[in-house]
Amino acid sequence: MTALDVGGLTLENPLWLAPLAGVTVPAVRAFFRRLGVGLTHTEMVSAAGMVMGNRKTEGMVGSPDGRDRPLILQLFGDDPALMEEAACRALALGGFDGLGINMACPMPKVFRKGSGARLLERPDLAREMTTRLARLGLPLWIKLRKATEAHPLSTEAFCGLLLEAGADHLTLHGRTASQRYEGEADGEAVLALARAFPGMVSASGDVYSPDDVRRYLDGGCAGVFLARGILRDPFLVPRALADLGFGGDETLCHPSPAKEIALLLEMGRDLKEDHGERFALVLLKRFVSCMFKGFTGASAIRRAVASEMNWTGLEARLLEAQSSFRS
Ligand SMILES: Cc1cc2nc3c(=O)[nH]c(=O)nc-3n(C[C@H](O)[C@H](O)[C@H](O)COP(=O)(O)O)c2cc1C
Repeated sequence: MTALDVGGLTLENPLWLAPLAGVTVPAVRAFFRRLGVGLTHTEMVSAAGMVMGNRKTEGMVGSPDGRDRPLILQLFGDDPALMEEAACRALALGGFDGLGINMACPMPKVFRKGSGARLLERPDLAREMTTRLARLGLPLWIKLRKATEAHPLSTEAFCGLLLEAGADHLTLHGRTASQRYEGEADGEAVLALARAFPGMVSASGDVYSPDDVRRYLDGGCAGVFLARGILRDPFLVPRALADLGFGGDETLCHPSPAKEIALLLEMGRDLKEDHGERFALVLLKRFVSCMFKGFTGASAIRRAVASEMNWTGLEARLLEAQSSFRS
């Protein structure tokens, strides 16, 4: 399969790791790149935090070692000038391939301050933000929610304005802000937008199987964002890639539990090194909670891992499980 040129980037395939706050840190991004995604995203990064020189915020920018690239840095904010300054600071730090704007987040701490999906209420502000970031020269990707009748512009009109202002690519999460993460995503709304702007739109929402991926791609989306589906089952990535004919590592489509554990431990050790034991423990438990399904002894292992309170214990449990699955 040949590479794709989309949104100003050349990508190996149309399956991409969505931005996930609290999750898509470098070790997780590298893990999903190993499983085959063609693009990754940072968590949403606060423009205000960047401009204040907050060390933690600056640490969220860019790839430490390139294993997670191509990478889009996603910023959120409500002030176009501040967003531009934040983006300039980020560019000085480097280590990413495109800029993203979050016009999708419905959560109160972002939404109430005028950022995220709130920007759909203020098309002029969204346009100015887009213009300012587009002129910095990196590909500009914008992720947004579906508009409602209460918004000044329809989803399509709002997107037309963003593209005119210089956005290189748009991703529609087919839920409204008030739905948050509940209810079904409106796949038809995403496909209608993809038809309106061919090649410029990718999809987000309810991607849990290779069929869900296909529905969006066959309907004209340029790519598909993987979010909660791969938190439940990371190996959806290689299976969906194989289904699309992107080859990849066939042994990853249905890995043995021992192989799953080897990959998890590699990610976990990276997480511990980058963020410390507590964070590594919490995130790894989250992944383990839905793995090894269908294998004898799997639920006992998941329970044992969940009860571990420190990294050494968790690592020991997983290594024990790995040898029991091998024998
Ligand atoms: C834990 C979590 C964190 C998220 N963080 C972000 C974020 O930082 N930026 C963003 O644009 N979307 C974020 N999202 C939304 C996802 O990228 C995606 O659009 C959404 O989950 C819909 O896809 P799904 O139904 O397949 O999960 C987040 C979602 C979840 C579940």
